Amino acid sequence: MQSTHALAAVAAAIALLAAPATTLAAYNTLDGRKPLVIAHRGASGYLPEHTLEAYARAIELGADFIEPDLVMTKDGHLIARHEPMLDGTTDVASKFGADRRTTKMVDGVATTAYFASDFTLAEIKTLRAVQPSAARPQQFNGLYQIPTLDEIVSLAKSANRTVGIYPEIKHSTFHAGIFGSRAIENTLVDRLHAAYGNSAGAPVFIQSFEVNNLQYLNTRTDIKLVQLIDANDVNPDGTLDLSAPYGQPYDVVAAGGGLTFQQMVSDVGLAFIKTYADGIGPWKPYLVKTVADGVDRDGDGMLTIKDRRVDGSTGVIEAAHAAGLLVHAYTFRNDASGYGFADPKEEMAYYMRLGVDGVFTDFPDTGVLAVAAVPEPSTYAAMLAGLAMIGGVLRRRRGG
Ligand code: G3P
Ligand code: CA
Repeated sequence: MQSTHALAAVAAAIALLAAPATTLAAYNTLDGRKPLVIAHRGASGYLPEHTLEAYARAIELGADFIEPDLVMTKDGHLIARHEPMLDGTTDVASKFGADRRTTKMVDGVATTAYFASDFTLAEIKTLRAVQPSAARPQQFNGLYQIPTLDEIVSLAKSANRTVGIYPEIKHSTFHAGIFGSRAIENTLVDRLHAAYGNSAGAPVFIQSFEVNNLQYLNTRTDIKLVQLIDANDVNPDGTLDLSAPYGQPYDVVAAGGGLTFQQMVSDVGLAFIKTYADGIGPWKPYLVKTVADGVDRDGDGMLTIKDRRVDGSTGVIEAAHAAGLLVHAYTFRNDASGYGFADPKEEMAYYMRLGVDGVFTDFPDTGVLAVAAVPEPSTYAAMLAGLAMIGGVLRRRRGG
C-alpha cells in the first residue's frame, strides 16, 4: 500500500509539472483571474480609432474587450467617437461647410467645432474616419464609416469566442446640457439591456470620468460600472498634476464641489467609489510611481519619459483591491506614453504582476503577449513545488 501511495504522489507531482502554465498561474488580480486585454478604441495603433475595422482587428489580435467611447448624434443615436467634436478623427471639414460649425462649452472650455450633436446619423454615415496621429498609418484614412453602438455590439457578438464591450460615456454633463438629464445614460442602458440583459454577468463594463451619472446608473442596471480617474500630467517627482480641467470629475466641478481625482484613490475615496461602482480605471501614473531623475537609461542621448526611474507600486492597486474594486489601467501604447519603460510588453507585464485586472491598450497583440509573460514566476514556483514533492516521496521511500 505504501508504495502505491508513493507512486500516486510521484504521478501527482509529475502531473503538476506537466500541467499547462495557464492552470498554474496565480495572478495578483482581485479574483485571481487572468488580466483583461481591453482594446482601446479598437486596435487603434494600427487602424483609425473607433471603426468597425479597428474593433475587428482587435478581436483578431486576441482582445478580451473592445472599447467604444460614446457620443450622441442630433437624432439621439450613440456613435463611437472620442470627442463630441468630429474635426480631429473624420473628414467632416471636407464634406460640410464651415457654417455647420458651432461653439459650445465642453467641460468649461469654449470650443468651436463640428459637433456630433449637430449632425444626424445619416449625415454622420457619409463621413469617413481618419487617423489623428501623424506617427501612425495614414493609408486607411477615408475608408471606414463611423459605427453606432448597436453595430459594435453586433460585431462583438459575432466573434467565435466571448468578446466583451467596454463603452465609455463621454462628457455626461455636456450631453445633459443638450439632450436633457440622463438622456445619454438612459439610451445606453436601454441598448445594452436589449443586447445583453440586465446582468452583472454580461460581458460589459460601463465607464465614465464623471460620478453622478455612474451613481445614477447604479440604480438602473446591474451591468458592471467603472469610475475613471484622470489627471492633467505627471510631475517629475512622480506626483500627479491635477490642473483643470483634468483634476476633477466635471460634474463635481459644475456643482461647485472640491473632490479631486487624487482624493478618489485614497482609502476614503475608494470606499466611496465602492458604493456605486465595481472598479476604477486610473491613468497609469496613479498606480506606478516613476521619477524623472536625469538618467539616460536607454542611452540614446536624450531624456524622455521612457528614462524615468520606476519606483514601484504607489499602493493604489492594493488599496483598491482591499476595497473590493477592480483596477483597469489606461493607456498602454507601443509608440508612446511608456513612463519608465522602453518595452511596452514589459511595461504591461509589470503592471500585471502588481495585480491590475486589465489594461487598456492601442496594441492588443502586445497586451496578449504581456499576459503570456506574467504567469512565469508562479509556473516556476509550481515546478519547484513539484520537484520538492518528488524529492519528499523519494526520501520517504529510501527511509523505508
Ligand atoms: O477609458 C479609458 C481611457 O480610454 C480613458 O482615456 O481619453 O482615451 O478615453 P481616453
Ligand atoms: Ca475611453
